[in-house]
Amino acid sequence: MAGTTLTIAQQKGGSGKTTLAVNLAVYFLQAGRSVAVLDTDPQGSLGRWFMTRRERQGDAGLEFSTASAWGVSYEVEKLRKVHDVVIVDTPPKADADLRPALREADLVVVPVAASHVDLWATSGVLELAERESRPTLLVLNRARAGTKLADMMTQELQDLDVPTAQTVIGNRVAFAETLGDGLGVVERAKSGPAAVEVVALAKEIDEATGL
Ligand SMILES: Nc1ncnc2c1ncn2[C@@H]1O[C@H](COP(=O)(O)OP(=O)(O)OP(=O)(O)O)[C@@H](O)[C@H]1O
Ligand SMILES: [Mg+2]
Repeated sequence: MAGTTLTIAQQKGGSGKTTLAVNLAVYFLQAGRSVAVLDTDPQGSLGRWFMTRRERQGDAGLEFSTASAWGVSYEVEKLRKVHDVVIVDTPPKADADLRPALREADLVVVPVAASHVDLWATSGVLELAERESRPTLLVLNRARAGTKLADMMTQELQDLDVPTAQTVIGNRVAFAETLGDGLGVVERAKSGPAAVEVVALAKEIDEATGL
């Protein structure tokens, strides 16, 4: 077996990397895939989520591991031998340390929170991913539907001329609540708007990677 590796990366802090990592992981788990998550961020938010999940459920249902920048390749190689999907969460940086996590990716998912500062920070990761010849997918996150800002951001992402997910992730309290409870949004309010968005995004990723 050689599982598919998704690396979630964005230089800007707080853009939604860990949120996407967690929610995609839980979606693939519920879809019957075997999943591993790899935290390469010293902040350890993904690890905190995982430990909360384990405390509450006993069996978290997925594998968790950590790696420092230089250990990523070794760890990903190991995990993808035994899992269908490996999701790598990364720190808010776009420097040489990020390169191994990008190199291992079948797809680099780049969340862009709906603000121009996030948009401006995006080029760093895109350039690094291009240097590693890895495909990327931008995802507009924390958008407030129907606002001028959301429309403007959608347009500006399109203008960047790099693949952008059709699915837009809204600014929804369910994401913050479920993260703190060690869950993904598809495990609570299954038919709620946050879950619908995660499912749609995961399906796009499925198609992009042939997962
Ligand atoms: N779509 C969303 N709707 C509402 N809140 C969100 C959404 N996405 C992320 N958040 C919240 O924004 C904060 C930052 O998200 P998250 O930790 O996922 O970002 P990050 O990119 O991993 O941050 P860092 O760069 O520090 O690792 C968290 O409190 C999270 O709950
Ligand atoms: Mg994070």
